[in-house]
Amino acid sequence: MSRKKIIAGNWKMNKTPSEAVELVNTLKPLVQNPDVDVVYCVPAIDIIPVKKALEGSNVHLGAENVYFEDKGAYTGEISPAMLKDAGVEYVIIGHSERRQYFAETDQTVNKKLLKLLENGFRPIVCCGETLEQREAGITMDWIRMQIKIAFHGVSAEEAKGVVIAYEPIWAIGTGKTATAAQAEEVCRGIRETIADLYGTDTAEAVRIQYGGSMNAGNCKELLAQPDIDGGLIGGAALKPDFGTIVNYNK
Ligand code: PGA
Repeated sequence: MSRKKIIAGNWKMNKTPSEAVELVNTLKPLVQNPDVDVVYCVPAIDIIPVKKALEGSNVHLGAENVYFEDKGAYTGEISPAMLKDAGVEYVIIGHSERRQYFAETDQTVNKKLLKLLENGFRPIVCCGETLEQREAGITMDWIRMQIKIAFHGVSAEEAKGVVIAYEPIWAIGTGKTATAAQAEEVCRGIRETIADLYGTDTAEAVRIQYGGSMNAGNCKELLAQPDIDGGLIGGAALKPDFGTIVNYNK
């Protein structure tokens, strides 16, 4: 079964609204590839201007976070309905930076995943191990636990539409990419975990991205792996290099 590749930019806390529009316009001619779903996950305040700037383009709009309640007294948070109304399709949840700096846990990721699915979004669920965990030989145990908690209460049909991003924490923003073999090994393990939970049909449908210092130079080899269905791109998503990654197969 062939899964369509998905290349998503995670802009993190970069680009003011006017800079964001400028970046969309710069990248516009570079990111056209009918074989790939292209997504920009942008800061909340950039969502509305980016949506407008993307009019008529092939790029899908994403957010970097969401809250798991519908509305109410949660100062500073953004609800699923707000994102929906602004035209967002994809939402990243559980990024390691949110876990590290903003107390995101596997349990809140699970609540967010259920809420996003209830509201018809395409979630991008992040997981990944620290260097200490890798060196201790518990990478796959850790990732299996993250996935099992995140997907608790999610149906097989819903799970098919979820994107999972495997991002080893030691590779994020460090310039130190996992080798294609290391990335493939964990992405295959994630697919096996989904198969254990839901069966092979679901596991074959789920798209699994690699993230962590993916760039124009290393994307081809990573994206050639059988269980790597795309990339979640930080630093390189803010540069014309992103176009090279999107067109990795040309
Ligand atoms: P990076 O970030 O590509 O800058 O390593 C990836 C991510 O955090 O999603």
